[in-house]
Amino acid sequence: MDVFGLVGNPVGHSLSPPMHEAAYDELDLEARYVTFEPEPDAIADAIDGAAALGVTGLNVTIPFKQDVLDCVEADELASRIGAVNTIDFTGERVTGHNTDAVGALRALRDHDVTIEGARAVVVGAGGAGRAIAFGLADAGASVAIANRTASKAHDLAAEVPDATGHDLAEETLAELLSEADVLVNATSVGMDDDETPVPAETLHGDLAVLDAVYSPLETRLLRDAADAGATTVDGAWMLLYQGVEAFELWTGRDAPVDAMNQALRSRL
Ligand code: ATR
Repeated sequence: MDVFGLVGNPVGHSLSPPMHEAAYDELDLEARYVTFEPEPDAIADAIDGAAALGVTGLNVTIPFKQDVLDCVEADELASRIGAVNTIDFTGERVTGHNTDAVGALRALRDHDVTIEGARAVVVGAGGAGRAIAFGLADAGASVAIANRTASKAHDLAAEVPDATGHDLAEETLAELLSEADVLVNATSVGMDDDETPVPAETLHGDLAVLDAVYSPLETRLLRDAADAGATTVDGAWMLLYQGVEAFELWTGRDAPVDAMNQALRSRL
């Protein structure tokens, strides 16, 4: 029996357990996916304990994504992003990875969006923004990062190859988006409210718009984007593909994407 899990605090409403268990059911794997909620100062002990107990893989979420960098051998991308969301115990060393970045790319590619050579605008420079900006840049996009606190966008842009930092003023977004192919919302704006970080007037039909927010699935940004004729990709796709990537890393098998997607969407 393989044990997988999610470490965070809180983890009560996570959709990862049903999504991963749907994959185990589909492939007849003897495995369970459980949630763990260690106290904030006990994360290093928790990771060591999981290794000692023979846990196969862990996902990591708030507030531990940065802390676990010190407990594992992080790969190059996770080190640059500065956050680990997936720990692999199957090798000789305990390794840390970041599947959020690749999850965003796979979500876009799944909707026939070309990243290589694309001009991308990432709104937000927090944890999600960092992962997505590095992912897009690694895949060959030029990335403009726009953030309410402009200094954070400039700081992040200095780390990401071929990136520029900007404020979130409407004129700035209008100018950036008029030239852009891809827009990603990596802020929390739109989560359980009907707000958008990007004025509808700045959107156009040649854009592909990914919203990292998945509750609600149809955010105001995605509604506005659809009205403008843009390709829309909701946040559940990103959540799905970060899980798919983790599953494939741990098991070495192709994930049953449809079964995982169905399990996820039936709960959103
Ligand atoms: P996460 O890990 O989900 O990215 P985070 O690190 O707290 O969360 O980052 C939240 C992001 O949403 C930030 O880019 C934040 O902008 P600031 O850096 O200016 O705080 C952005 N954000 C949150 N609320 C916002 C709002 N009302 N308008 C615009 N941006 C907002």
